[in-house]
Amino acid sequence: MSAGEGSTRRDRASGLSRAGRKKAARKTAAKKKPATKRKVVARKKATASRVAKKVTTRKATARKKATAKKKAAARPAPRKKVAKKAAAKRGARKVAARKKVTRKPVAKKAAVRKAATKKRVAKKSAARKAIARKPIAKKATAKKATAKKAAARKAGARKPAANEAGASKAVARKKATTAPAKAPARARAAAPAATRKPVRTIVSRAAEARWEVGLRPYFAYRDLGIATATRGKVLTQVIRTEQPCTGPTGYHSHDLDFQMVYLLRGWSRNFFEDVGEVLFEAGDAWYQPPRIRHEVVAYSDDFEALEITSPAEFPTTPESRDVQAYFVGGPRTVVSRGGEAGWATGLRPYFEYRDLGIRGATADAVLAHTMRAVKPCAGPGGYHSHTLDFQMVYLLRGAIRMYFEDLGEVHLDTPGDAWYQPPGIEHEVMWYSPDYEVLEITMPADFPTVPARR
Ligand SMILES: [Fe+2]
Repeated sequence: MSAGEGSTRRDRASGLSRAGRKKAARKTAAKKKPATKRKVVARKKATASRVAKKVTTRKATARKKATAKKKAAARPAPRKKVAKKAAAKRGARKVAARKKVTRKPVAKKAAVRKAATKKRVAKKSAARKAIARKPIAKKATAKKATAKKAAARKAGARKPAANEAGASKAVARKKATTAPAKAPARARAAAPAATRKPVRTIVSRAAEARWEVGLRPYFAYRDLGIATATRGKVLTQVIRTEQPCTGPTGYHSHDLDFQMVYLLRGWSRNFFEDVGEVLFEAGDAWYQPPRIRHEVVAYSDDFEALEITSPAEFPTTPESRDVQAYFVGGPRTVVSRGGEAGWATGLRPYFEYRDLGIRGATADAVLAHTMRAVKPCAGPGGYHSHTLDFQMVYLLRGAIRMYFEDLGEVHLDTPGDAWYQPPGIEHEVMWYSPDYEVLEITMPADFPTVPARR
């Protein structure tokens, strides 16, 4: 057997080669041998340095990471990122909201459903109740209206000279606090809000006249109550002497749209800047244009006149006769003589009419005419209404019985009795005396007359 063969041969017990056996023997010997002090110190040092190295490396890594983080925070985030973040936030909020909705407790949902059902049921029953109540209410109202109408008719028939002025005042008071004038059901159903009748007929009785102080201290004034009814659009007042005339009343002018005077009694001498001095007698009338300078020079002790102005309130300016600026342009003063002829046929064949010439001066804005009976009354004249802005009638002589849809029958038999009938009010002449004569003012001068059915 060669040396090579012997060195590679493995030990049967350990399975190691000769070299391996030698190495193992050396290790065992080294283990068995106690380490020298130097070697131990060296080993400890090596271990310590390894540990120190590891710590240093860890610290350095941590520092590096912190620095990188700081830098990243300092850098402004790119726009896309910001948008993405915001979108993400929004999404999160939506999700949260959806979750809230879906999270609603079942009991709560049921309560909400219950409340809604309750509401619906209550509404339905209220509606049913209202429908059931309606016919009764209507019937009651209809009964009341019929009773009122009958009462009005009875009152008219029993007491021809009854106090309608008082009634009209009560009506005016009522009007202020309650509903507007009642129109027939048919008209009410058809009429739009704008054409409803807000004002009731007003009757002013001469016997109940209240004379009050006014613009001039030597005159007394009787307001016919039309200014209130027309909400300040038209004033109609009777002016009479309180003191004997002591001289001209003072040159002045009025800033208004319309002014006319009808002389009822006595006489007056007036001066107008455009036509000069004019003597008026009972039955005469005049129209004085807006802002015309004028004055009453003298008047009789029994002077009494009906004045109509629009608007009801207007300023009066003192003027000087020394100023020779005569009124130029526009309409001129109109004088209408009662004594002169001029009666003509008109709307009703049993009446005749005398135009006071004011429609021409006002370009058909105002009609002022007197109307008198020429034929005996043959019965009611026909129930009708007029489509206009203003209408009033002043009794000059005789008597008349009228029917108004809101007042019922009204009997007027004293000169100075008057009435204002609101636009569209249905009415009828029931009867008139043979000497019946009135002054009528309408705005505009021409208007349609519409037949009605009672
Ligand atoms: Fe009429």
